Amino acid sequence: MARKAQERLIVALDFARLEPALQMARRLVGLAGIFKIGKQLFTAEGPRAVERIARLGAGIFLDLKFHDIPNTVAGAVRAAAEIPGVRLVNVHALGGREMMRAAARAVAGKQRRPNVLGVTLLTSMNEEALSKVGILGPPLKRAVQLARLSKLAGLDGVVASPLEVAAIRRACGEKFLMVVPGIRPGASAADDQSRIATPAEAIRAGADYLVVGRPITQAKDPRAAAREILAEISSS
Ligand code: C5P
Repeated sequence: MARKAQERLIVALDFARLEPALQMARRLVGLAGIFKIGKQLFTAEGPRAVERIARLGAGIFLDLKFHDIPNTVAGAVRAAAEIPGVRLVNVHALGGREMMRAAARAVAGKQRRPNVLGVTLLTSMNEEALSKVGILGPPLKRAVQLARLSKLAGLDGVVASPLEVAAIRRACGEKFLMVVPGIRPGASAADDQSRIATPAEAIRAGADYLVVGRPITQAKDPRAAAREILAEISSS
C-alpha cells in the first residue's frame, strides 16, 4: 500500500467533551491523516464534534459500531455519510450478512462515500467470554470467518486486532482494508490493552491503518510521540 505514513495514522480522540478533543486535534494537525471519534464524544457532542474536528483538514473515522436490523443500520450509515469529513464508519459483523449488505448498499454509488468497515469480535472478549454468548472455538478462527462474511457482504474492510491481521489478510486479499488498534510503541504502557503490537509489527503483518490513542494523546509531547510512530511506519 503506497500511502504516506501520515495517511496511515489514525489518532483516537477518546475525550468526553469537544474542547479537549479539538485542542488535541489542533496539536496534531499534519501528523495524522484521520481522527477517530467514538461513542462517548459523539453521544455528548453530536455531529458538530465531527464537523469541527474535520475542519482542521484530516478525515474522520466515526467509530459507532452500528448493530441493529438492516433497515436501521442502513439509515445510520447513510446519516454518517452525510456528515462532512467522515471517511470511515463501522458496523458489527455479528449483525449478519443482510445487515452488512444493507450498510454497504446505503453508501454504494455515492461520489465521495466513506469506507464501511466490519468489527469482527470485540477484543475485550476472550474465548471463555465468547463461549458464554454461544461463539465457540478459537477467537482467531471466528474473527477470520466474520471478516470473510464482511467481504462477501460488500464491506470495504474490517477493524482487526494485531494478532488477527496476518490471517485476515491471507483470507481476504490485498485490497481489503485493515484498520488496527491495540498499537503500543516499544516503550509505552499497555494500559488496558492486552493483545498489542508495535507499529512496525502491525504494518509488517499487513495493516493499512493504525489506530493509536493514549500513547499519543497522553504523552508529554503528543507531536513527538506521533512523529516517532510515523518514523516507525515509514521504515517498516
Ligand atoms: O488508547 P488506545 O491506543 O488503547 O486507543 C485505541 C482505540 O481503539 C480506542 O478508541 C479503542 O476504543 C479502539 N479500539 C480498540 N480495540 C478494538 C476496537 C477499537 O482498542 N478492537
